[in-house]
Amino acid sequence: MPRTLLSLGSINADFQVRLSQAPGSQETLLAEGLQRLSGGKAANTAYLGALFGHRSLLLGRVGADDLADQALGPLRKAGVLLDEVTHATGAGTAVSMIAVPANGKKQIILANEANDAWDEMAAQRVLSAIAQAPSQSLLVLDYEVPAHIVRLAVTAAHARTLPIVVDPSFPERLERGLMPQVTALTPNMEEAAALLGHAILNEADAASAAEALKGLGAQIGVVKMPDGGCLVACAEGVYTVPSSGRPAVDATGAGDAFTGTFAIALLEGQPAVEAALWGSAAANLAVTAFGSQPAYQGREAVMGLVQTLRPRIRRLHD
Ligand code: RIB
Repeated sequence: MPRTLLSLGSINADFQVRLSQAPGSQETLLAEGLQRLSGGKAANTAYLGALFGHRSLLLGRVGADDLADQALGPLRKAGVLLDEVTHATGAGTAVSMIAVPANGKKQIILANEANDAWDEMAAQRVLSAIAQAPSQSLLVLDYEVPAHIVRLAVTAAHARTLPIVVDPSFPERLERGLMPQVTALTPNMEEAAALLGHAILNEADAASAAEALKGLGAQIGVVKMPDGGCLVACAEGVYTVPSSGRPAVDATGAGDAFTGTFAIALLEGQPAVEAALWGSAAANLAVTAFGSQPAYQGREAVMGLVQTLRPRIRRLHD
């Protein structure tokens, strides 16, 4: 029976180009292949929820502008429920400008606009969506909306004993006192380093970081690695989940592919390490094509790679 994925966070209009060299020089760089896409962390996880056959409800903000159609159109087409996406006045739809060089290591500049423009009525809509969600629901959320919105959503979902997955982007917004209410925390290496206040340089550092994240109070600490693998600390121990090693064309949507598919696996009752394996498989597939949502692959492809990667999971320690 389909379950309900509640995705709360950023909804963006993505403007994405390819570059022949890495951004960062003072010169004007000539880009190719401009694409106007739907993006944002919550939009991307909601897209995956629908792709995997669940009732997928998006909670967030857009502006009253044409960019909202760019951000929401592909989600509507995919079957994401958009009734609880509210329109900000005085702020436009958020825009991500994304440059992808040949090595796939993207540079994103985000104008957060409506994602940060919340009023009391919009906050109440989030609360009532969580209150009315079926008992078989999971909340996945990011910090590209104000911390007080995350706080009220986490508190409401926890009161209903719904599982909660937090993607701590932007890490400086994360409220540590909320972590004991959270099921899983899924930063990438840079975000984990920012949260913990020290560099993460290798697998051993990432394993310690996953444990330290769990130590903040979440039941599961995950560190997403740049190659698509991850480190997981959970009640059963600390594990490394491998990457498939597929060459990256575009890493833009890989982190959200991980977090969304990991959340879907938990929603379906999978244990932590298996959920992390689904997340890694989805992230490995997501880097093989350009864009976030257009690169996401469905259940059959993800499960195919899950079977290949499962024997390579390693338990590091208790
Ligand atoms: O996490 C990737 C997403 O965030 C992209 O879709 C883009 O919107 C970026 O800001």
